[in-house]
Amino acid sequence: MTYHIVAERPQDAALLDPLLDRTFGADRRNKTVYSLREGLAPVPGLAFSAIGAADELLASLRFWPIRIGAAGAILLGPLAVEPALQGAGIGRALVRHGLDTAQALGERICVVVGEPTYYQPFGFASAEAAGLRLPGPVDAPRFQVLELVPGALQAVSGLVGRADGLQKKRRPDRVLVD
Ligand SMILES: CC(C)(COP(=O)(O)OP(=O)(O)OC[C@H]1O[C@@H](n2cnc3c(N)ncnc32)[C@H](O)[C@@H]1OP(=O)(O)O)[C@@H](O)C(=O)NCCC(=O)NCCS
Repeated sequence: MTYHIVAERPQDAALLDPLLDRTFGADRRNKTVYSLREGLAPVPGLAFSAIGAADELLASLRFWPIRIGAAGAILLGPLAVEPALQGAGIGRALVRHGLDTAQALGERICVVVGEPTYYQPFGFASAEAAGLRLPGPVDAPRFQVLELVPGALQAVSGLVGRADGLQKKRRPDRVLVD
C-alpha cells in the first residue's frame, strides 16, 4: 500500500465527516470526547492525512487542545482509516508521526480514549491511575495518557477540560460511554 502522511489539506476537511461516519458510526458525536473538542479547531500543525498515489484521502488523525486542571495538553483523535485499508499499518504510522510532531512542537502531555492494546506500544498508560478524570462516562481502561516530556505529569492531575474553559453538556439520554 503506497501512502504518504501530509499536513491535513483544506480539501480533506470536507471528506472527514463521511470517513468518520464510515469508521465510527453516526452516533459517534455523543461520546464524551466530542464535548471536549466541539466547536474548537485542532491544534495548529497537528492534523494529518494519509493520502494515496492519486492524492486521495485514506486516513486522518487530529489532535485537539485540552486542559488538565491549569495545564495545557492535547487530545489524540479521532484516528480513522478507510475501512478497506485497515490493518495495513497506516493507523500506527499516523500515530507515530503525530506524536513525534507534537513532541517537536513542545507539547507535553497527550490524552487518548481508545483501545489500550493499540496505544500501549506508544507508551500510553492508564490516565485514571495518573489521577486524571474525564467530564463524562468512559470505559476506564480506554482512558490513557502519555508524557511527551518525561515527568510532565508529576504536578498535573484532575479533571480534563476544554481548552476554552467552557462546559458542553451532552444530552444525558444520548451519552455514549467512550
Ligand atoms: C483502529 C484503527 C485506527 C487502526 O488503524 P489501522 O491502520 O487499521 O491499524 P494498523 O494497521 O496501524 O495496526 C494494526 C494493528 O492494530 C490492531 N488493531 C486494529 N484495530 C484495533 C482495535 N480497534 N483495537 C485493538 N487493536 C486494533 C490490529 O490487530 C493490528 O495488530 P497487529 O499488528 O499486532 O496484528 C482503524 O482500524 C480504524 O479506523 N478503525 C475504526 C475506527 C476506530 O475504531 N478507531 C479507534 C481509534 S481510538
